Amino acid sequence: MRSDIEDLKKEIQNFSITNEEILEAFRLKFLSRKGRIQAMFGNIGNVPKEDRAKVGKAMNEVKNLAQQRYDEEKRKLQQQEITAGATEDITLPPAPLPTGSFHPLTQTLEEMKQIFFRLGFNIADGPEIEDDFHNFTALNFPPNHPARDEQDTFFIEKYDDPEKNDLVLRTHTSPVQIRLMKEQKPPIRAIMPGRVYRNEAVTPKSYFLFHQVEALYVDTDVSVADLKETLVSFAKMMFGSDVEYRIRPGFFPFTEPSLEMDIWWETKDGNGKWLEILGSGMVDPNVFKSVDLDPEKYTGFAWGMGVERIAMLRHGIDDIRLFYKNDNRFLKQFN
Ligand code: DAH
Repeated sequence: MRSDIEDLKKEIQNFSITNEEILEAFRLKFLSRKGRIQAMFGNIGNVPKEDRAKVGKAMNEVKNLAQQRYDEEKRKLQQQEITAGATEDITLPPAPLPTGSFHPLTQTLEEMKQIFFRLGFNIADGPEIEDDFHNFTALNFPPNHPARDEQDTFFIEKYDDPEKNDLVLRTHTSPVQIRLMKEQKPPIRAIMPGRVYRNEAVTPKSYFLFHQVEALYVDTDVSVADLKETLVSFAKMMFGSDVEYRIRPGFFPFTEPSLEMDIWWETKDGNGKWLEILGSGMVDPNVFKSVDLDPEKYTGFAWGMGVERIAMLRHGIDDIRLFYKNDNRFLKQFN
């Protein structure tokens, strides 16, 4: 009997289990009710009484051994199944997800802001839906100026009564100057970035929506020299110290004198053209009066820059509509 138990033990240890079916065969052979171990227990009556305790203990050991082996092999097979299901190395770190990037206009605006912060400007903003007073009247536009015409202005609310204040989508960021001067006493040195709207035909050069960065510097002795100095510093910081620029006289109702700045646009064929990037000038005394500032005491300069124009120059983009199409092939170039 003793040696039978030893043989059974060896058999259990040496039984090779490589798949589920063999595992089941193992269970049937050793562990089931009709299996070898139960049969062995059934024979215990043949063992002499004095040996029964010892033999019984040995039998229990064999039984535990078989059960342990069964559990262990079953776990191994299940583990194999899991790893076999994975076609790749699941321990590798995941491939990075494609991430988006800032829109080229946002990137350009951010660069502009950083430059003006370095030049000592802070930031202000105002509403995109404006009233006629802030968008036109306070900026010294005469009552029948062509910019008030529906050709250029999107009206939100237009009244027949000239006393009533029409509501418009702002056609420029200049009304924020008015809001700022009403809120804050000089010295003022701020930029005012934002969207503006014009009822214009959509072409490679114009769009009904675009962005401007307005600036206003008001103090007791601001001069045209300060304005020019600031504009030239900006152009050099934005486009590099070898930038080709020109400053020429212009006209705006809210500045006197008025200036415009152009930057040389070099085309791929070696030709080029001047591209206007901003209007500017010395704040007109009538504008100061409209916000109750004394034009005898204060002087100031202002400008309005086109963000799209600057981004176009910066990246050699010749069609403004590309900024508004959200075509990934275009946007991806600015990652
Ligand atoms: N508001 C003008 C425009 O949209 C640009 C401009 C010109 C702004 C002169 C200014 C300025 O502040 O002083 O065309």
